[in-house]
Amino acid sequence: MNSGFGDERLIFPATQRNRIPIGDVLSQQLPSKGLILEIASGSGEHGVTFQKRFPELTWQCSDPDPEHCRSIDSWIRHEQLTLKMPAALQLDVRDKGWLKQLTEPAQAVVAINLLHISDWNCTTALFTQSAAVLPSGGTLCVYGPFSVDGHHISESNRSFDASLRGRNPDWGVRDQTSVLKQACTAGLTLQNITLMPAKNRMITWVR
Ligand SMILES: C[S@@+](CC[C@H](N)C(=O)[O-])C[C@H]1O[C@@H](n2cnc3c(N)ncnc32)[C@H](O)[C@@H]1O
Repeated sequence: MNSGFGDERLIFPATQRNRIPIGDVLSQQLPSKGLILEIASGSGEHGVTFQKRFPELTWQCSDPDPEHCRSIDSWIRHEQLTLKMPAALQLDVRDKGWLKQLTEPAQAVVAINLLHISDWNCTTALFTQSAAVLPSGGTLCVYGPFSVDGHHISESNRSFDASLRGRNPDWGVRDQTSVLKQACTAGLTLQNITLMPAKNRMITWVR
């Protein structure tokens, strides 16, 4: 959503609601120092929020959409974080060259609300590439809605899934069981599943 601020900042309303609970879980899962690579950063509102909340970390946002990258950079400037936060990387999760684009190795990868709004190749790429880029003990944090053993966990998730599939047949709420299996195949070890507000979950793995 255009912010109406007169610059390139976009507003994604859900980030206002979920930034605090997501940040609370991240505070327990992320390392205390180092570079965090956020995949699918969207508007950049999460990125600047978490950079301010975790000043010892370097928050590297990314998104394949040039409009989103411009929004991220505009939020960084607006929040006066240009000396701390790198500019957004224009990165598709399926790109093979994550490592080459980073200024330093990532200690953790974070993806918020990506899996249901992209095709399954993006889910497999997220796990394969995270396993390739993270050091041993590095963390992957994935937030979003999930079904469990093929069943939706709420009516709202069921209708959200139907609306996603109506927009794009390759999108849809992912099944936790399939996601866990895929992560395991990529060499990641499940660390935690946290139930979040609005029937979302944060799932974390370590490499
Ligand atoms: C629902 S938005 C979530 C944005 C942000 N993480 C948030 O929670 O507000 C989904 C984001 O995924 C990005 N995206 C879609 N396909 C992608 C891909 N193949 N690789 C990386 N990001 C992708 C979109 O550009 C968009 O910014």
